[in-house]
Parts: sequence; C-alpha cells; structure tokens
Amino acid sequence: MTRLNTELLPFSEQSAKKAAEIMAAGGGVGIPTETVYGLAADARNEAAVRSIFEAKGRPQDNPLIVHISAREQLPPLVREIPELALKIAEKYWPGPLTMIFPKSDMIPAATSGGLDTVAVRMPESPAARAIIDACGFPLAAPSANLSGSPSPTYCTIIDCMAVGYAIDPTLVETRKCRCGVESTVLCFPAADRVRILRPGGVTAEMLSELCQADIDPAVTSEPPKGAKVMSPGMKYKHYSPKAEVFIVNAHGKQFGDWCMSHAAEGTLALSADPVEHGMFRCFGRDTAEQAHRLFALLREADDEGAKTIYVEMPSKEGIGLAVYNRLLRAAAFRVIEV
Ligand code: TXA
Ligand code: MG
Repeated sequence: MTRLNTELLPFSEQSAKKAAEIMAAGGGVGIPTETVYGLAADARNEAAVRSIFEAKGRPQDNPLIVHISAREQLPPLVREIPELALKIAEKYWPGPLTMIFPKSDMIPAATSGGLDTVAVRMPESPAARAIIDACGFPLAAPSANLSGSPSPTYCTIIDCMAVGYAIDPTLVETRKCRCGVESTVLCFPAADRVRILRPGGVTAEMLSELCQADIDPAVTSEPPKGAKVMSPGMKYKHYSPKAEVFIVNAHGKQFGDWCMSHAAEGTLALSADPVEHGMFRCFGRDTAEQAHRLFALLREADDEGAKTIYVEMPSKEGIGLAVYNRLLRAAAFRVIEV
C-alpha cells in the first residue's frame, strides 16, 4: 500500500475555502456528507473527473452523482425536470436522495459514464453544502472508497491511507456520517411514479406519500449476467470487505446457535443482539442503527483479519431495504437459509 500524505482538515469555513481552491484547480477532495464520504471534483471538468475514476479504480461506465447546494443550481445541469421531481425535491431536498434527469451539455460524458442522463443530489450535511457553496460549481462525488470496497462512513488519517488511492486528495473531516448508507437513487419512468434504483435514507415508504414508488428488481436480486441494468453501479460486486460475507436468514437465538455451530478460526457474526461476546458484534437493534454501523463494521472486520462474516438477516422495512441491498452485494448474493 502506498503511504499517502493526505492532508486532513477539520471542517471550518477556512477548510471549505481551501477545498474549493483545490477543486477549482482541477484537484480532488474527500468531503463528508450525511450518507458516506465522497471523493469530489468539479463535475464540469473532464480531466478532474477522470482522475477521480482513476483514484478509485472505478469502471468508466459507472456514472457519478453531481452534488448541488441549492435548487437553482439544478436547471443548468439538465434538459428537463418532471413536475414530480419538483414535488419530491420540495419535500426531501436537501437530503439523502439522488434523482436522474436527462443531462445538459454542461455535464461531460466522463461524469455521466457516457449516459445521456445525470444523477443529481443536494446533500443536507452543512459541511458538504458549505464546500459546494465555496466552489460555486457542482461537484461530482462518488463514495470515497476504492471501487468495490465498503464505503467510508468516518475518516481518520489511517482510514484514508488504508483506502490506498492512486492520487493524494485533501480530506475535509467532520463527525461520523448520519445515515451511514449512500443516498436513494431514483428515476422517473412515468409522470406519476418513480423507480428506486438504489434504496437509501429517503425510503420507499417516504416516497409513497407523494407518488407510486416501484422498487427495481435489481435492488433485491442479482441481475442476470449481461442484462441491461438501469443503474450501472448495480451490476458490480460492491461494498465487500476482504472477508467472505454471508447473510443468514435467522434471528435472535436461532441465528446465534447457527453461528456457534458453524464458527471457525476468523469467523465474526454481526447480530442485532446488543451483547457483544466472542465472535459476536452488535450490528444494531434497529434499521437506522444497522445502516449507521454497517460499513464501519465491515471495515473493522478487515482490520481484525476476519475470514468469514455471518450477518443476521436485516428487516427490509424503511432504511432496512438499503442495508439488505448493500449486504446482498457485499455477500455476492449468498443467503443461507436455516
Ligand atoms: O450518498 C451518496 O449518494 C454518495 C455521497 C458521496 O453523495 N455517493 C455515492 O456515489 O454513493 P457512488 O458513485 O458510490 O454511487 C452512485 C450510484 C451508482 O450506483 C451509479 O451507477 C448510480 O448512482 N448512477 C449515477 N448516475 C446515474 C445515472 N445517470 N443513471 C443511473 N444510475 C446512475
Ligand atoms: Mg459507491
């Protein structure tokens, strides 16, 4: 692993300004958001965006989300805004929600992964918003992990070096990310409905208050090989620690007993039970806590040298669907029926 001289800046107006200067000059900066940390660059700058793909080892056909800090910044990025998008933005922006629109010429093909659409999100994190404000231009920011690994939900210098980027970004730091899983991504297949391509903090239940919210089949199952998926990110193995992850479809004592009888050297078990002992780690008692802790636990499991991780099946309600979606990909779709 290359040792990086990443500069860590505690969040302040001053560091927002410095981050803006770096990005205006075509550089990349690690930024905190309420979902996960992002690795940001000027969304309009093709070369800057390419360096982000390179730093992450990200496939070039996987488009980036463009981050804005005010609703007036949306129209120049897109060719069309459905009425329903305005209604949803009114209620859930700023927040962990990304919407897909036909893109304008302002967005280069590098940012949109060659697609004719652009995904836009307005984060609620004050630090992210202050950085976007200081820039005065939209920021393309994928999650700050290396492509395929668990997303970073808190950053320390160690964490950042462990990421092993090919470039040396400056990092603006705040406290842990509130949500812990990435934003909900949706598109508009018809005037009165949305399709959820990636579940997140703005849940299907929350969207159902405004319109019909369909869940794309790729959210909960493996897309057939070679199938065209609506969101390129869904076809890649994702969020994986070095250990092999398995979801175990059991709860409480049944989960605990199953893990005990299948444990070997290097086995960890993530359970909803708050009592931690032996190989058992508390994954969180409810869906919000599980979302908040998921990626940190997967990263910590790597630090502990875990070889196998068994995870208690999460609830699929609310933000639980996002937890299940990320776990399925971390587990390469392996679910053990007990
Ligand atoms: O919470 C988040 O969304 C974080 C923070 C940093 O804002 N960002 C994030 O970005 O999760 P990333 O690059 O890790 O995931 C973006 C997802 C990918 O699955 C990608 O395929 C999808 O959004 N996506 C982006 N643009 C798209 C488009 N035009 N059409 C369909 N899917 C798109
Ligand atoms: Mg990501």
